[in-house]
Amino acid sequence: MYSERIKIIASEISENDRVVDVGCDHGYLSLYLKQNKLCAEIFASDIKESALNMAKTNFKKYNVKIKTILSDGFENIKEDYNTAVIAGMGTSTILKIISHPKTPDKLVLASNNDYYKLRLNLNKRGYKIVDEKAVWEKNHYYIILLCIKGKQKLKLKELLFGISNDDDYYKYLWKKNKELIKKVPIRKKIKLFYEMFLLKGLIEKK
Ligand SMILES: C[S@@+](CC[C@H](N)C(=O)[O-])C[C@H]1O[C@@H](n2cnc3c(N)ncnc32)[C@H](O)[C@@H]1O
Repeated sequence: MYSERIKIIASEISENDRVVDVGCDHGYLSLYLKQNKLCAEIFASDIKESALNMAKTNFKKYNVKIKTILSDGFENIKEDYNTAVIAGMGTSTILKIISHPKTPDKLVLASNNDYYKLRLNLNKRGYKIVDEKAVWEKNHYYIILLCIKGKQKLKLKELLFGISNDDDYYKYLWKKNKELIKKVPIRKKIKLFYEMFLLKGLIEKK
């Protein structure tokens, strides 16, 4: 029931964290955190009533007490929290959610797309990325970021490929670009060649 992605997200949570699981959907992350006593408090929230109902059914099934909150991002969250997990959404949605003044200082983010834009905007908004993990699951890499309030200016290669230091992930990106390069117009080819050059540097450094 618990995917590797859920477990890795949970591994970024500490015992004193009071967590909002924003966009909890079926509630598996909240359930995993609660069952394994991995944090001080967990609140499960979602913008959709139907999602919250699914989460409630799961919490009941596994006999755990987790407060559920219907909310667009942090809008209706009145509880005391210091951490948020926002996972399984696109970068634009995540950036919109974290523009709310009640965004906490600690964030665990797992976007579905556009990691460059996400990393760049996090730095611009005064968050530093302190850990990053690449999880291979269902034929796809999921990127999980641990961010805390603080100054950071990532280099171009870090904005593009992250700080996971994961050789397999870098090799996967390099191969993906190699395939893509055959199919794109010249202007894009140059960009992809440059990215492959940067990736090669990261792979060879190891
Ligand atoms: C694909 S599910 C991800 C579920 C879970 N977080 C995960 O990573 O497995 C995305 C969930 O985010 C919710 N969602 C989308 N935008 C939201 C917002 N602005 N505020 C709260 N929840 C949102 C959706 O209703 C949906 O249940």
